[in-house]
Amino acid sequence: MNAQPVDPCQPIPPVDQPARLAALEAAVRARTGLRPAVGIVLGSGLGGLADELVGPVSIPFSELPGWPAATAPGHAGRLILGRLEGVPVALLQGRLHLYEGHDPGLVVQPVLLMGRLGASLIVLSNAAGGLNPAFGPGTLMVIEDHINLTGRTPLLGPNADELGPRFPDLTNAWSPRLRDRLRAAARAEGVELASGVYVGLLGPAYETPAEVRMLRGLGGDAVGMSTVLEAIAARWAGLEICGVSLVTNAGAGDSGTPLSHEEVLAAGAEAGPRFVRLIRRFIADLAPGD
Ligand code: HPA
Repeated sequence: MNAQPVDPCQPIPPVDQPARLAALEAAVRARTGLRPAVGIVLGSGLGGLADELVGPVSIPFSELPGWPAATAPGHAGRLILGRLEGVPVALLQGRLHLYEGHDPGLVVQPVLLMGRLGASLIVLSNAAGGLNPAFGPGTLMVIEDHINLTGRTPLLGPNADELGPRFPDLTNAWSPRLRDRLRAAARAEGVELASGVYVGLLGPAYETPAEVRMLRGLGGDAVGMSTVLEAIAARWAGLEICGVSLVTNAGAGDSGTPLSHEEVLAAGAEAGPRFVRLIRRFIADLAPGD
């Protein structure tokens, strides 16, 4: 599989995941024996947490079988294993997006790989536009639930019953226990943390103002171009998940100025240190065996 050229559009149905994950696991194991307890996916502008890892082993996406180099600006494209607050973790600095043309089965492989390497708990983070008018730029929001409007699923095609069920339940997909832990960590650090529903769209164009109004009406609090497929795949594979959105901008049309990726990255730079404190505390306060 290592020598196989990457075709990011090639469909990867669930039934193909076990063999692909085995190859990915072998490639990681050739670099490190560290068994992560927690997997963390870092969103646009939030990659700074990677600098906090002790004893990091960094693997560029392009050196993992079947993975392309990440292309979105602000996404470095590395899997990094190391320790955070003494806890072994796997960090994804940068992720694979649908809007890059990647198949849904590829988009979710990093999270499935983290599970395969030993993580039972996944933290998903992202940059998002604000739909809730109370959530201004810089708001950190714990994800209570999501709405998948990408029109895609990583579970299309023959299932791999050894990995997960055909019809996974998504009630309480975003672990109430971990949401409480995130809120407790925020209180302990004096970091404000809102809560809400994340809406995932395909992108890469930002929404129109009419779409922003519609998404608000559907019950969304923040909108972005990632996370929802990773959440579905992780739950399918039995992993416990939680997530944090950084609202980097008001929803399109709400601020009167055009949206830009630079604005998203600048908000990430501003909120990065708060995000790092929140996640560090969350990890430090995980009970042994969590
Ligand atoms: N919309 C979608 N994705 C985003 C946004 C937005 O306004 N901001 C950051 N990611």
